[in-house]
Amino acid sequence: MLQDKHVTLTVSGSVASYKGAALARELQRAGATVRVVLTAAASRFVTAETFAALTKAPVLTDTGWWHADGKIDHIELADWTDLALAAPASANLMAQFANGLADDAASATWLATAAPKVVVPAMNTHMWQAAATQRNRQQLLADGVQVLTPATGLLAEGYAGQGRFLEPTDIVSQLATLPLDAQTTTALSGKHLLVTAGGTRERLDPVRFLTNDSSGKMGYAVATAAQQAGADVTLITAPTKLPVPSGVTVVPIESTQELADAVLTRLPAADGLVMAAAVADFQPVTAADQKIKKTTDNDELVLRLKKTPDILQAVAANKRPDQVVVGFAAETQNLLENGRQKLTKKHLDLLAANDVSRADIGFNGDNNQVTFLFADGHSDQTPVTSKRAIATTLISHVAEIFNQK
Ligand code: PMT
Repeated sequence: MLQDKHVTLTVSGSVASYKGAALARELQRAGATVRVVLTAAASRFVTAETFAALTKAPVLTDTGWWHADGKIDHIELADWTDLALAAPASANLMAQFANGLADDAASATWLATAAPKVVVPAMNTHMWQAAATQRNRQQLLADGVQVLTPATGLLAEGYAGQGRFLEPTDIVSQLATLPLDAQTTTALSGKHLLVTAGGTRERLDPVRFLTNDSSGKMGYAVATAAQQAGADVTLITAPTKLPVPSGVTVVPIESTQELADAVLTRLPAADGLVMAAAVADFQPVTAADQKIKKTTDNDELVLRLKKTPDILQAVAANKRPDQVVVGFAAETQNLLENGRQKLTKKHLDLLAANDVSRADIGFNGDNNQVTFLFADGHSDQTPVTSKRAIATTLISHVAEIFNQK
C-alpha cells in the first residue's frame, strides 16, 4: 500500500522525536519515498542532517523556509505528497492542525496538502487526556484525519500511562489497514446521502429520558467519509458531544419520531441513506408534562412503553430502485444470523453487523469491527480498526452498489 507513495513525515518535538528516524526507514522498507518536515521543537531533539542523510532529500525546517529565493517550499512539498504523516505528533502540533494554523513550515505544509492525513500522537498521559487535546483529536477526526491511538506503557516521566509513541513497525502495519487512497474522493460525487447518527432519546418527563450508549462516532465517521467521497451529505443526528464534520449539513433531532420524520421527508430527494443511529425501539406511552415526583406511598414506578416506528421498514416501503439503503445491526448474540434477518426484513442493500457486547468495539470507542452483509448473500468481515477506516470501506461499498444499479 505504501509502495511508490510519496510520504511527507512531519516530526514534532518529543522525547520520541528520534524514533521518527526509525519510522522513516520503515516507510522506505515498505516502498515509500519519504521527505521530512522538522518542527522547531523537534530540531532541539534531532537534527535535520539525520533525516536528510536517511531520505537523501532536503529537510524542510523553519530556518530553511521562506527565503527570498522565489521558491514556495511548503506548497511544493504539499503538492508532492501522497500521504501526510505526523509522527510523533505533539499536543501542540495537533492543536495547530485542528485549528488550521499555518504559522510554521510543518503546519503550513499540512494545511496546504490535499493528501490523506494521519496523526500518530506522542505525549505525556495527562496532556493526552486533557480536554483540549481530546477536543482537537475529535476535530481532526471530523476533518477526515486519521488519528492513531497512542500506546499505553512507560513514559519518559518514569510512570506508565497512555500517550507512548507507537513502535515504527506498528505504525507501518496500521497504515496498511487504513483507507489512504484518494480513489474514493469522487466515488459519490453528484449523490445526496442521508446519514443518521447517535442514540435517540425518549422523554419520560421534561428532565428525564431513555437512551443508549451511542456516541455518534460511527455515524459521524460515515458522514465524513461520504463527504470526502464527493457526496452531498445531510447528517441527521441525535445529541452527541462531537464537532460537526466539515462540509456536511446537520439536522438535529432527539426522539425516534423526530428521526423518522427527518428521514422520511428528506428521502425522496436523496440518493441513499445510511442508518448508523442507535434507535430506541420503545418509547413511553405517555410523557409526563411535569417532572415525575417521588411519592411516599409508592416505592415503584411502572413505565408503560410502546414500540417506536421502525424507520428502515418504512423506508423499504417507499424506496426507489435507484436508491441505496444501508443499515447497521447492533447485536449482543448471534451476530450474523440476526444481521441477515434484518438485511432481509428491512430490504437493505447492505448491512453492517457489529457486536455491541464487546468493550473494544461497538458503542462509544474509536474502533469497531463489522461484518458487511450484502443483499446477494456474500459477506466481508473487517479487522478491528478505526471507525473512520470502517466508514471509508462502507462508503466504497455504497459507491460500488450505486454503480451496479
Ligand atoms: O455511535 P457509536 O458509539 O459510534 O456506536 C456505533 C453503533 C454501535 C451505534 C453503530 O455501529 C450501530 O450499530 N448502529 C445501529 C444501532 C441499532 O439501532 O441497531 P439495531 O440492530 O437495533 O437496528 C437495526 C437497524 O435498524 C439500524 O440501522 C437502526 O438504525 C435501524 N432502526 C432501528 C430501530 C428503529 N425503530 N428504526 C430503525 O430504522
